[in-house]
Amino acid sequence: MRRKLAAGNWKMNGSPAALTDLDALADAATGDTEVLVCPPATLIAQARARCGAIAIGGQDCHSATSGAHTGDLSAAMLRDAGATHVILGHSERRADHGETDALVAAKTVAAWDAGLTAIVCVGETLDDRDAGKTLDVIGAQLAHSLPDGATDANTVIAYEPVWAIGTGKVPTSAQIAEVHSFLRAALVQRLGNETASAIRLLYGGSVKPTNAAEIFGVTDVDGALVGGASLTADDFTPIITALNMA
Ligand code: PGA
Repeated sequence: MRRKLAAGNWKMNGSPAALTDLDALADAATGDTEVLVCPPATLIAQARARCGAIAIGGQDCHSATSGAHTGDLSAAMLRDAGATHVILGHSERRADHGETDALVAAKTVAAWDAGLTAIVCVGETLDDRDAGKTLDVIGAQLAHSLPDGATDANTVIAYEPVWAIGTGKVPTSAQIAEVHSFLRAALVQRLGNETASAIRLLYGGSVKPTNAAEIFGVTDVDGALVGGASLTADDFTPIITALNMA
């Protein structure tokens, strides 16, 4: 049985005052569902200190353990601040910072070495989808962004169609099911049935209280990576509840 995971990605949003919303989320986190919030790195330690029932994660890390990388953070620094997870290869990092699959793979190794669970993101653009290349693109991203050595303890995969992020557009259940079953099959081929069946697959992109139940009803969707709707307990709590009930 895969434990369900509701992961919030605050992106470059939030403040110390916003951490009060974590108290309400902690109550919702009491079911079978694991709740994770990834605030900006400056808030990780405060978030960790505030709320034990919720896992706290980072949104990126450097591939090196230390050195002359002004402005960057190592995976161990995130861990030392209280993070247990880190989002890697988000499409905004791939677009804004030119992150390649190879770099994402190197960051994933760094995260594993520091004892963090990597949430490795893949997803097609609208052009990819319109050209019928969705599965090719996602297959290549998975193959090259995920290093050898993935387990259910150190890795979560998030399918985030780029065109669905922050747009209010959501793929149909059939489209999500197609990609998630493709990802599961690709993991089985690479890691064998036992490991692949235990790795959690999240859907991300405009998950809201209004569409969460339908998305969580799709086979092989083990939870969500939630951006905008994770910023307030009013929005994130009903998503966690929908996952609890799925
Ligand atoms: P969104 O973002 O829920 O605001 O669409 C999801 C994400 O980018 O992780």
